[in-house]
Amino acid sequence: MTAPHLDQLAILGAKPAFERPLPVGQLYFPSWEKYEARFRDIFARQYYTNQGPLTQELERRLEAFFGVRHAICVTNATIGLIMAAESLGLKGKVVTPSFTFIATAQSLEWANLRPAFCDIDLRTHCVTPETIAPYLDEDVSAILAVNLWNGSCDPRTLEEFAAAHNLKLFFDSAHSFGCEVDGVPIGGFGDVEVFSFHATKVFSAAEGGCLTTNNDEIAKRLRNIRSSYGAGPPVPVVKTSNGRMSEAQAAVALMSLEDFPAILARNERLFGLYRACLARAPGLRLLEPTNVSKTNHQYIVVDVEAETFGLTRDQLLRALKAENIVARRYFHPGAHRCMPWADRDSGKTAALPNTETLCERIMQFPTGALVSDEAVARLGDLLETLSKRAPDVRKALEE
Ligand SMILES: Cc1ncc(COP(=O)(O)O)c(C=O)c1O
Repeated sequence: MTAPHLDQLAILGAKPAFERPLPVGQLYFPSWEKYEARFRDIFARQYYTNQGPLTQELERRLEAFFGVRHAICVTNATIGLIMAAESLGLKGKVVTPSFTFIATAQSLEWANLRPAFCDIDLRTHCVTPETIAPYLDEDVSAILAVNLWNGSCDPRTLEEFAAAHNLKLFFDSAHSFGCEVDGVPIGGFGDVEVFSFHATKVFSAAEGGCLTTNNDEIAKRLRNIRSSYGAGPPVPVVKTSNGRMSEAQAAVALMSLEDFPAILARNERLFGLYRACLARAPGLRLLEPTNVSKTNHQYIVVDVEAETFGLTRDQLLRALKAENIVARRYFHPGAHRCMPWADRDSGKTAALPNTETLCERIMQFPTGALVSDEAVARLGDLLETLSKRAPDVRKALEE
């Protein structure tokens, strides 16, 4: 395949390279035949929610998958994060990164806690004891670490650090389904981990999520906070909610689990194709999975070095959008620059230099079920052309 000529770039008025938008998310969905069979089954039973047989089966299978004592399925990960904070009996502040999806920090507000935003490591994009330590004081009761992209924090070091400071530790592992650290699945670290089964994630229930823990007492509280206990008698909790997973969600999740090895293999292939095509675009660096012995290759995360590539991250995004390529800046801005914290904590933002840097440089490329090998190849050619003709593209963007 030859690289497109300048006059073939959509930013200069040519036809977009892709007829339909190329999205960022994983967007796997089971085949119609499988879907229909599962849903006929639900209709025949006429049991649609309240810890039904499919949700129970999913929880048992996820416990085996993660190698944990308890997997507790919920409506989505945001509710799961709120429930996790509530189950740990936290007070005051929780140290958490600003470089994350907004739900991480918002969940703390919903649980009547305050996020104390810390910085992240530039290589892994995750928190470390060194980035957390400056934010510890007597009001801090926990650390909410985020396992990002295709990799993770160093969970064992964080466990030791949290224990040494007498803090609870829980993980937003929304991105980390199927990843392992030294052969141990993410899901068994800290007090609780929370996973998202949103349609854009590597493991989908269309909407959904689960909490994992090896602590029987926390699990009992979580089941009561969620409602529909699922196992064992009720235990007293201060607040309950409705975080129940429906049978429709559980059905999609069970099909995702069945297809998961194929999804992983497909992701790995796409990641390899991107690695090869990005190597031809100087100034664009693909983030390789960090700290994990097994990855899900869920995201194509790229650091844009503007001087070398010729376009800034935001200029590149605009040029790609013209081609119908829906790449995203994710995360931008950092949570500390969003409401309500931007106002509340004004003046403290300069303390997060790595977060600020990544918010300006990082972007996600399309991947997942709707992206073909051929699409990645075409995208690679476009990147090469965009970089070679960067001055003309910049000029076109200014007009
Ligand atoms: C890091 C992170 N945390 C939490 C969430 C929230 O997940 P959900 O959409 O299942 O509520 C997301 C979703 O994108 C996420 O990326």
